[in-house]
Amino acid sequence: MEITNVMEYEAIAKQKLPKMIYDYYASGAEDQWTLQENRNAFSRILFRPRILIDVSKIDLTTTVLGFKMSMPIMIAPTAMQKMAHPDGEYATARAASAAGTIMTLSSWATSSVEEVASTGPGIRFFQLYVHKDRNLVAQLVRRAERADFKAIALTVDTPRLGRREADIKNRFSLPPFLTLKNFEGLDLGKIDKTNDSGLASYVAGQIDRSLSWKDVKWLQTITKLPILLKGVLTAEDARLAIEAGAAGIIVSNHGARQLDYVPATIMALEEVVKAAQGQVPVFLDGGVRRGTDVFKALALGASGVFIGRPVVFSLAADGEAGVRKVLQILHDEFELTMALCGCRSLKEITRDHIVTEWDHCRRLPPLPSARL
Ligand code: FNR
Repeated sequence: MEITNVMEYEAIAKQKLPKMIYDYYASGAEDQWTLQENRNAFSRILFRPRILIDVSKIDLTTTVLGFKMSMPIMIAPTAMQKMAHPDGEYATARAASAAGTIMTLSSWATSSVEEVASTGPGIRFFQLYVHKDRNLVAQLVRRAERADFKAIALTVDTPRLGRREADIKNRFSLPPFLTLKNFEGLDLGKIDKTNDSGLASYVAGQIDRSLSWKDVKWLQTITKLPILLKGVLTAEDARLAIEAGAAGIIVSNHGARQLDYVPATIMALEEVVKAAQGQVPVFLDGGVRRGTDVFKALALGASGVFIGRPVVFSLAADGEAGVRKVLQILHDEFELTMALCGCRSLKEITRDHIVTEWDHCRRLPPLPSARL
């Protein structure tokens, strides 16, 4: 079947994967209100396209933390990718590198930092969950540094695991032929079957619920890598993140898998961008499935976006080729959106190119100054 948009991969993945695995990838927390909302909210933002601008050349390139990239679309950390495809994180790493973008490797990957590094060149970030055992965390961060990862994305929305009911019903566990490779040999590489979601039990046993702002400082004492805080949803926390030394902020609700009834990330983005006052870059993930979504996020002030589920679904459908295709489709759709909005570079994308439902009090740009 010819794939014409990113969302089509989900149906293929659903057909191909065992139910326990598909449900783990697809689910949100509890009522899954935020899961729907992450998508729906994009449809409350409409374009104000500008016309008669020469768009014969469009430049999608950007830099993230100083690294040059082909486009502002990156790969979010998603755990256990070998459940989707035997090549798992290797395939994702290669696809990201071929597309000239960044892959973020999950702490709970089924390939280790060293294995992913061995797939070849590429700019990669390492997502960190802070285990109770701080020596283990420090070791892992050192390994990521040695494997040439360029930043740490510290996940700050998961002191406990959100209640994902499908995982509870399915008694989710990691298939026995797989391990959380970063923890292999440390007796923490397995997610066993329990009377609950096995992952929820793992998190309850291993993850440090006491994690707080002082630990963001602590992390800076053990690494020189820039630290992105992943999971910020409010202006208050954006300010604290900057004061704590974060090099960037990822507006994320964990793909709606943690606290249900938080706003869609695209709704929370603007307050965080305003609070950040341009001091650090602000990124967004959650529900990005179209090039138009990418444009809307940038118009609201994001420096780039990350995608989660499209990667695991396309991986399940078609391995590395699937992930490459997802990145290509989003690239092409985003480029087309820019052209049709009259933007030739990311710098030309402005707040005036969109209007949101919550803009009714907002003044339209002043007339009559013709701004070409
Ligand atoms: C995730 N996410 C995630 N986040 C994180 O910090 N560490 C992790 O290991 C994982 N694992 C993970 C697995 C799966 C299957 C999903 C769907 C998500 C959250 C992820 O990084 C990102 O925030 C969301 O996936 C973004 O939303 P979309 O693009 O999936 O809608």
